[in-house]
Amino acid sequence: VSLRPISVLKFGSSVLAGRRDLKHAVHEIYRELREARRVVAVVSALGRTTDRLLGEARHFGESEPAALALLLSTGESRAVALLALALQRAGISTSILDPEQLGLRTHGSLLDGEPFALDAALIRRELELSSVVVVPGFVGRDSSGATSLLGRGGSDLSALFLAHRLGASCRLLKDVDGVYERDPAPDRAAACALPRARRYATLAWDDALAVGGAVVQTKALRFAREHALEFEVGRVGAAAHTRIGSEATRFAPADGPPRRLRLALLGLGTVGLGVHRELQRFPERFEVASILVRDRFKRRASAFGELDPELATQDPAAVLDSGCEAIVELLGGVSTAADLVGRALERGLDVVTANKQLVVERGAALEAVASRSGSLLLHSATVGGAVPVLETVRHLAATRPIAGFEGIVNSTTNFVLEWLSEGDDLETAVGRARWRGYCEADPRLDLDGTDAAHKLELVARAAFGGGVAVRWLERRGIDGLCAGELQSAGASGETIRLVASCARATWGLEARLAPRRVPCSSLLGRTRGVENCFAIRTHDGETLVLRGKGAGRWPTTEAVLGDLLELSRLRQSSAAPVEEVAR
Ligand code: NAP
Ligand code: HSE
Repeated sequence: VSLRPISVLKFGSSVLAGRRDLKHAVHEIYRELREARRVVAVVSALGRTTDRLLGEARHFGESEPAALALLLSTGESRAVALLALALQRAGISTSILDPEQLGLRTHGSLLDGEPFALDAALIRRELELSSVVVVPGFVGRDSSGATSLLGRGGSDLSALFLAHRLGASCRLLKDVDGVYERDPAPDRAAACALPRARRYATLAWDDALAVGGAVVQTKALRFAREHALEFEVGRVGAAAHTRIGSEATRFAPADGPPRRLRLALLGLGTVGLGVHRELQRFPERFEVASILVRDRFKRRASAFGELDPELATQDPAAVLDSGCEAIVELLGGVSTAADLVGRALERGLDVVTANKQLVVERGAALEAVASRSGSLLLHSATVGGAVPVLETVRHLAATRPIAGFEGIVNSTTNFVLEWLSEGDDLETAVGRARWRGYCEADPRLDLDGTDAAHKLELVARAAFGGGVAVRWLERRGIDGLCAGELQSAGASGETIRLVASCARATWGLEARLAPRRVPCSSLLGRTRGVENCFAIRTHDGETLVLRGKGAGRWPTTEAVLGDLLELSRLRQSSAAPVEEVAR
């Protein structure tokens, strides 16, 4: 059994209507990573690109298939590149494979071919290095190496074919949350005086072929039936979906009315501004009721749009009384944050925080309040930025005992070490990191190892449970390092990294944090700039490696938003009725 199973997610043109929608695909991919899965993202051309390209080809009269296939395939190539850029900006480690590398071979017509081969070993290798591989749907190569296509809607078939060859699960993401008995648009139902269309919870393959052709490519449905391949059809961000496979066909219960989660933001700095900006992409899910800042007249980056002056306040009581259902704590520091988070939890509000110091120092007491009042305290962003370390470790620990872990957990020091080896002095290098928003409010907490030690403790709790004692064998930051040590490491093909490690010992846990010389070509040596890297060892001798950007506005925002979307889904699903109707 793989330590991290593979999910194939297919994003169609209706989902990726334009560049702005790429962010939704990023969040959906991140949702899978939080479930400790690796992702192959199969993408179609954005929006109406394929129709536009077909229009261009029509200028030349009847098209020759090889030229037309090549022209249409440019739409998928562009979508692959743009999604990879969006993922990388969010700090998610991503590889791309073009049709040649993918080795998806077809036979039959150049414009409507049948896939028969794939370089599955290469995809698996790429997934060892990066958690996400982005590939074009719809496009392959025929036996002569010419570009071939899988027919209209052929990205569905690409995704199912990949899932079959990789032994992966598959979800086709559409602009509807599943397959319906007929067009679910409410105005259509009203025009024909019909009740609202019902969504299928499950659809047997034969029934899917009878009713699902408008949503899933018929050729893809036939492929799934022929290979007994189960898969899901759903909408980005939604919990509801239709499962197509061996189960009998059943309708889903009617969905409850959409619920907006009313939030208060505490802090509008590096991370707060990013979270505020991303929340605006989900007007149907989130509403910001109030924002706590130290100085409500401070100028904020204009790139984040106008801030409603009525929302910002310097009064903590007003934030808690804003009628919010959850707070997002992005202040930093312990005393004010602990007071406000504690009061919020007591009132039954859910809390999302990125504050490691708070969770390390006050987590146990706050968890106790949360469990008394039935609220949740989520803190994905406390470790790893866009790398879902805590979630992955919890998933892993639930199935196999963990022996230990090792890695680079503080981005500022990694970034600073790189600039020191380029010749910067410490002050200049730290200035660069501060300017990019990587440092703690007091950067000494990064440099002396406090921030890394906090993160190590949080990962240890996720891996081994909260009650296990940690004994520090060594605990140093990079503040005592001198330039000569970096130079001498460089002269022998090595570099210096601040490495945190923790392992089970007979009596408890042994932890170390110290600058270490590592070969430049090693996994830790190749961890550059703001990247984090975690190698988690299981008791049965396997190692799982996670990497990605560990700090900065967008990676941290991704993690905070991951928690918020989870909260929103939990509330949505608890609002749904339970009745089921057989078809
Ligand atoms: P930041 O840029 O310094 O922003 C802090 C925000 O909180 C500011 O908007 C500030 O208001 C407000 N604030 C602070 N103390 C306040 C108080 N007592 N009352 C009212 N408002 C207050 O910090 P950040 O980098 O966004 O970090 C926020 C949290 O996320 C920290 O816990 C940090 O450890 C964590 N984190 C950060 C990163 C990262 O890469 N930056 C990554 C992971 C986790 P003003 O704007 O008016 O000054
Ligand atoms: N100051 C922290 C770091 C922010 O540099 O890693 C991310 O937790």
